[in-house]
Amino acid sequence: MFDEPGYPGNSDLDDAELTLQTFVYCSRAAEGVDDTEVRRIVASAQRRNLARGITGMLVFDSGVFFQWIEGPPAQIQSLIASLHGDPRHHDVVALDRSEEKRERLYPNWQMEQIEAEDIREVLQDALVTTEDDNNIAALKRILECLASGPIDALGRS
Ligand SMILES: Cc1cc2nc3c(=O)[nH]c(=O)nc-3n(C[C@H](O)[C@H](O)[C@H](O)COP(=O)(O)O)c2cc1C
Repeated sequence: MFDEPGYPGNSDLDDAELTLQTFVYCSRAAEGVDDTEVRRIVASAQRRNLARGITGMLVFDSGVFFQWIEGPPAQIQSLIASLHGDPRHHDVVALDRSEEKRERLYPNWQMEQIEAEDIREVLQDALVTTEDDNNIAALKRILECLASGPIDALGRS
């Protein structure tokens, strides 16, 4: 489980030259999943992600999730399988999935919960600070998804 090269202490995320897999999706929360349950999901995700070299962000608004995860391909694949089987949400729609050598966008976020109205700002800030061409391309794809995709309604309840 921890045999990915470059993850010796599980907290060493200085992995500029490692292949990262990114998965971005949106989904609908199951009946009864409220802010309290989402806080639980995030707290547990932070612990699990730290141990697996996964970083990312989660938005929850109006019963809709939007999540960005990145990390070692094997760990991300395993998390994707878990996410698909998790009864706390359904209608998981993949928005972006890529695998490339690049720096992490959010190296210190084991799983940061972001307010829906802040998501564009967060992505645009990352676009300004990153110098990695692959990151720039990925961020532009996500911003395009936000403008035209199924999560366009986020934050406009
Ligand atoms: C919206 C949402 C986001 C989640 N994010 C993560 C995450 O970032 N990391 C994580 O380990 N589990 C996350 N989970 C929980 C996983 O779906 C799953 O319950 C957990 O990884 C345990 O999986 P396992 O029972 O297959 O071992 C999330 C669940 C939901 C509903």
